[in-house]
Amino acid sequence: MRAWILLLLVAGAVCPTWASDVEPVKVIIDSDPGVDDAMAILLALSSPSLEVVGITTVFGNVTLDNATANALTLVELAGTDVPVARGAERPLTKPRRSPPTFVHGADGLGEAGLQKPAGAPLDVSAAEFIVEMARRHPGEITLLPIGPLTNIALALAIEPRLPELIREVVLMGGSARTEGNVTPVAEANVFGDPHAADIVFTAPWRVTMVGLDVTTKVRMQDEVLQRVAADNPRIGGFVWDITRFYKAFYESRGVRGGFYVHDPSAVAYVIDPTLFQTAAARVRVATDGLAEGHTITALGTPPEFWTAWHEAPEVHVCLEVDAERLLALYESTLVP
Ligand code: BDR
Ligand code: CA
Repeated sequence: MRAWILLLLVAGAVCPTWASDVEPVKVIIDSDPGVDDAMAILLALSSPSLEVVGITTVFGNVTLDNATANALTLVELAGTDVPVARGAERPLTKPRRSPPTFVHGADGLGEAGLQKPAGAPLDVSAAEFIVEMARRHPGEITLLPIGPLTNIALALAIEPRLPELIREVVLMGGSARTEGNVTPVAEANVFGDPHAADIVFTAPWRVTMVGLDVTTKVRMQDEVLQRVAADNPRIGGFVWDITRFYKAFYESRGVRGGFYVHDPSAVAYVIDPTLFQTAAARVRVATDGLAEGHTITALGTPPEFWTAWHEAPEVHVCLEVDAERLLALYESTLVP
């Protein structure tokens, strides 16, 4: 027994980073909750691998007021005091469009009859909060945007050194090789604010795109949610209730074998990137016209005469995912 303890102490001395390797990753989730956002936030709040230092809200699946109320509801449900900061009410340039109530319900959480939250958001804006946290924890924060990218672009405008201060950006949005979900070529979050998305994809930081190429390959089945609800009635029961509306939407669109797991897939990437296969690429976003919101992706190293892509920084695009292992991670995190 003593020999084992000695061995562990020696290993700690030889590998001084050992202890810090298991430190949870600090994340700020930028979200428009949204049913799958709610699932993503609850996954992150339940994961010992992550420390959620804040949730920032943005228009998208619902209005900003609704998104902020929903974020507060989730924080209270999880029994945490994670701060919530209100963000952008509309895109940087294009007009705001009405929320897709047919996907997430009028309240954004599946019209499950939830009570209003007791708490209130911070006095600072989402963009200010992101900048403040990045300055306080340089090199430590992972930004996890799972809605339109407006707040992130606004934070870059406040603090141009943000890319040096942020550890990485892991975003749910876009598609490299598959069709879009709001137009034949555009994914909803990028379409929500294409100008902001292009700013984020071309800033000099490490960006990983968890887009429709992978999120449509992960299908959540009722059996998984039933087990989670049985073993963790508080969180799992809530997820069961809010997902009925969302599930019906996907079924009405002919999606079989479960509903798409968009936003939780981005959280899963931060917890365990080995679930995914990525490729190096350069991504630019079409900001208007018929292709508005298209993440035009040049895989590999683009030739010099593809100037807009050649001059853009490298982005890591998720192309494949181990869906079975991701669903197992979801289940084991909510029911440890
Ligand atoms: C994305 O759009 C929203 O409806 C979801 O919450 C997700 O973030 C998928 O395209
Ligand atoms: Ca979302």
